[in-house]
Amino acid sequence: MTGDHHDHHGHHDHEDTRGPAFFDEAAATWDEDEAKVERARVVAEVLRDAVSMDESTRLLEYGAGTGLVTQALGDAIGAVTLADLSTGMRAVMAAKVAAGTLPADARIWDLDLAQADPPEERFDLIVTVLTLHHIPELDRVLHGFAALLDDGGHLAVVDLEEEDGSFHGEGFGGHHGFARAELQARLEAAGFTDVAFRPCHHIERDTGTFPMFLATATRKDRSAAAEVRVVEVAPEETHHLRATVLRSHLPDPDVDYPADRAPGSFHLGVRGDDGLVAAATFSMEPAPGHPGRPAARLRGMAVEPGAQGRGLGRTLLEAAQQRLRAEGVELCWANARTSALDFYEANGFTVEGDEFESIGLPHRVVVLDLTAS
Ligand SMILES: C[S@@+](CC[C@H](N)C(=O)[O-])C[C@H]1O[C@@H](n2cnc3c(N)ncnc32)[C@H](O)[C@@H]1O
Repeated sequence: MTGDHHDHHGHHDHEDTRGPAFFDEAAATWDEDEAKVERARVVAEVLRDAVSMDESTRLLEYGAGTGLVTQALGDAIGAVTLADLSTGMRAVMAAKVAAGTLPADARIWDLDLAQADPPEERFDLIVTVLTLHHIPELDRVLHGFAALLDDGGHLAVVDLEEEDGSFHGEGFGGHHGFARAELQARLEAAGFTDVAFRPCHHIERDTGTFPMFLATATRKDRSAAAEVRVVEVAPEETHHLRATVLRSHLPDPDVDYPADRAPGSFHLGVRGDDGLVAAATFSMEPAPGHPGRPAARLRGMAVEPGAQGRGLGRTLLEAAQQRLRAEGVELCWANARTSALDFYEANGFTVEGDEFESIGLPHRVVVLDLTAS
């Protein structure tokens, strides 16, 4: 195997300490470095061996640079999308598409998952080579990959094994390679399973030889991930979620509600690995405009941002409804912020009365008739 030699610009060892501007500039001559072309060829060979792919495989190469790795995969793959935040890199890829060096139908995306939400698209395979060590906000990007992959889809990460910082030299704000166990834990936390590592080529620099790994991982089944258990929790356990999800806009949020410990009040939650990821509180209070009907007020409905989109809010409401009906409660109501009205309406609540302000935000009353169905 041939190693890379990074002296084509005269500033050999430190080429990657720079941000997007560096890559913009480096793009035009990137492919003149034979070591990079050879690296892409070897990486593609290892990828073909490690990951199943064919002409139906929808590929996203993230941090694709000039598209060398996708180019080296040739016709082993199906529809191709190439993402990079560097304008210069994207321009080189566009020229290659026009010239037929990259597939004519390849899409080129300006995408930075560290900053932007993932687009509403699905892929079967995401490949990312020597890019993740540039991204301090790694977890956000890994969650983005998970969102972009179909259940059972594959992620292939080629990057540096953990090093002592001499790869980029001083002043580099990214990762000094990756410790395999730590990357594995981060991948699993982001929704991946079956994480496996193997050696994959190396880079030669004046400061040493830097080995790389290929990590492959499978996108977990979303329905399996959504298997949740609703439990009754103590009011204090909900405080963190109330503060961070519902009242983060307030300087000194009050997260202890007066009715938290009143007779009949209860708190439901879903626990994740590091504590509650969803919570809701129910207390026996008459609904505005419905005097005389047994009613429960819903407060503090909060789902941690990383756990949103899994239907946990609905799951909590369904569990509460069962319990409230069994207790003879006829109405469930809440002062809902107007930004959340869609959620309540989707769960059978009716919006009632005029808009009003509470904790600095516009609200409406929402009411669910538990006797209706
Ligand atoms: C060392 S180059 C590797 C390029 C290509 N994968 C290769 O192996 O030749 C890293 C690439 O990642 C891109 N990049 C860095 N941070 C990124 C981010 N947050 N999102 C997308 N691309 C990024 C850079 O613009 C650059 O093209």
